[in-house]
Amino acid sequence: MPAPTLLSPFTLGPLQLPNRVVMAPMTRNRAGPGNVPGPLNATYYAQRAGAGLIVSEATQVSPQGQGYPGTPGIHSAEQVEGWKLVTDAVHRAGGRIFLQLWHVGRISHPSLQPNGALPVAPSAMAPAGQAWTLDGMKPYVTPHALELGEIAGIVEDFRHGARNARAAGFDGVELHGANGYLIDQFLRDGTNRRSDRYGGSVQNRARFLVEVTEAIVAEWGGELVGVRLSPTNPYNDIADGNPAATFATAVGALARLGLAYLHIVEPAAGDPVAAGEMPDIKYFRKIWRGVLIGNKGYDFTRADAAIRDGTADLVSFATLYLANPDLPERFRRGGPFNVPDRKTFYGGAAAGYTDYPALGA
Ligand SMILES: Cc1cc2nc3c(=O)[nH]c(=O)nc-3n(C[C@H](O)[C@H](O)[C@H](O)COP(=O)(O)O)c2cc1C
Repeated sequence: MPAPTLLSPFTLGPLQLPNRVVMAPMTRNRAGPGNVPGPLNATYYAQRAGAGLIVSEATQVSPQGQGYPGTPGIHSAEQVEGWKLVTDAVHRAGGRIFLQLWHVGRISHPSLQPNGALPVAPSAMAPAGQAWTLDGMKPYVTPHALELGEIAGIVEDFRHGARNARAAGFDGVELHGANGYLIDQFLRDGTNRRSDRYGGSVQNRARFLVEVTEAIVAEWGGELVGVRLSPTNPYNDIADGNPAATFATAVGALARLGLAYLHIVEPAAGDPVAAGEMPDIKYFRKIWRGVLIGNKGYDFTRADAAIRDGTADLVSFATLYLANPDLPERFRRGGPFNVPDRKTFYGGAAAGYTDYPALGA
């Protein structure tokens, strides 16, 4: 058998992917009132249905889980109906789409929270930086440290979101455990100073991730649930004393759940690693027996090499996919590639969203 390439098919549990190009999750802040997706969002995702797999933008499982204007939810009946427009359009175009389930934790602001409440987190530590609110940028506040009895309710919110994602017609779900949001705030010791069963040892810091994943797996079965982690990404003012050790334990605890995949936001040059090994994609290949998705900074050449030499099973692309709706076809032809316009990444309407041309358009 010749080695697989980025453009060869892949069997992901019950799903047949026509290629190994994944559209990475991307927040675009273009949901309608009530955080409900609409026809414009359906067009955007359907344009990108040539991906082996689409992972949706991060989607809050509760009003408390929101941290930015215009992000979609998966907690209300209206949101489920809105997402059906998206999943139907993607399926009609021949694609497959997972929903990324999200809770931002402390990366929010009272003005975005129900009844102006404080955002929640494992520990009462304010992140450095500013929140993006409806009235512009505002300093982050010190979050409410979750009481032991409140944590189970958030696990239930994830379970409910996962159930709603099924009703909305998704092919599976990905848990957003990356980039400094709530799951990551529990995992890393820089943001988790708890002394109960959710803090202290690495096993305890991984407990929330494991309980949430178990709840989602109970709704979907493991083979349609992926988990995304970013062991060294400092985004959202987060760090860990020994990310290789922390994430080995976390991944070890997930291994028995029979998950669809592990999706790694890989270390970038300059990511702080205070102690321990560098937890790069090759490190996860050694400690994770299941399907592995690589991400960050890939182009065709690097991604194809990673698939050919077995470093990763699939590779996800964010910025490149944002600007190139027919990305796998452009890879097949060797380009050319549209250039992403950062000014229109977050918020706005069709400009910089659904108007990137396909080849031949
Ligand atoms: C506009 C934009 C929005 C993003 N939103 C999310 C998100 O909702 N969830 C997530 O896990 N990562 C998100 N990311 C991170 C990307 O998925 C990806 O990890 C990062 O851009 C590196 O991949 P790339 O080099 O292919 O762009 C976002 C990135 C961009 C550029």
